[in-house]
Amino acid sequence: MSDLSRPQGPKIIAVANQKGGVGKTTTSINLAAALVEAGKRVLVVDLDPQGNASTGLGVESDAREFTTYELLLEDISLDEVIQETDFDGLYIVPATIDLSSADIELISNEKRSFLLHDALRQTAMDAFALDYILIDCPPSLNLLTVNAMIAAHSILVPLQSEFFALEGLSQLMLTIREVRQSGNKDLRIEGVVLTMYDRRNNLSQQVENDARSNLGDLVFKTVIPRNVRVSEAPSFAMPVLTYDTSSKGASAYRALAKELISNNSI
Ligand SMILES: Nc1ncnc2c1ncn2[C@@H]1O[C@H](COP(=O)(O)OP(=O)(O)OP(=O)(O)O)[C@@H](O)[C@H]1O
Ligand SMILES: [Mg+2]
Repeated sequence: MSDLSRPQGPKIIAVANQKGGVGKTTTSINLAAALVEAGKRVLVVDLDPQGNASTGLGVESDAREFTTYELLLEDISLDEVIQETDFDGLYIVPATIDLSSADIELISNEKRSFLLHDALRQTAMDAFALDYILIDCPPSLNLLTVNAMIAAHSILVPLQSEFFALEGLSQLMLTIREVRQSGNKDLRIEGVVLTMYDRRNNLSQQVENDARSNLGDLVFKTVIPRNVRVSEAPSFAMPVLTYDTSSKGASAYRALAKELISNNSI
């Protein structure tokens, strides 16, 4: 089905939450894998100097010659920075620690907030025929995350099902509001997804109730359970969908992909 609201290429989604360890990278990797399993062509942009998404998708450090740093700051062909992964239809722009200096190097650059926006909209991008681009953001509201928010059509927010989960959200929403005023007025919130959910734990249920009563339909129906297979998969350089295809974690990310696809009609 053609999507008239998205005439020029892939839907770009930034996976962001400035709180560390809430499941941004896990969600980027596994949602991407689930979208690919559903027949979509997906690019993951690793925008975190920690490079966890790159490792989790099997790009070893010595295979990261050209990275997000070059994508943002150098004039380099997309064929060199976009790497094919072992999974058909799943691509990645990897990251290394080099990216940690980008924040400072960008300060004097007039287009500093728009570098990722422009990089992802080069006409050479069309050749990859992507349906989705997922940007794995660092745990900060720095210039890299602002680049992701300016580049993206929407933000997907992983929310860890634990105490204080909702506390950081107001700061994130404030930043989203500022980005809407300064460079991306159409930026939407794709949704909030509860991660590391434990049904036996009252706290998880309380966070879910709070999130649903405060944020309503913005919260995805799908909840990602805490599942040890999900946390083991990256050390085998695989999404959980291939590491343990019948695990609860794999099923949950499949359900999330289905919900996303149905919300977007893409
Ligand atoms: N559903 C899950 N079940 C079990 N463990 C999980 C699950 N999701 C994430 N984890 C684990 O929690 C930790 C943090 O997850 P992840 O790295 O995805 O968070 P992050 O938000 O990207 O962190 P950072 O802010 O450092 O980038 C990791 O060790 C990961 O394996
Ligand atoms: Mg991460």
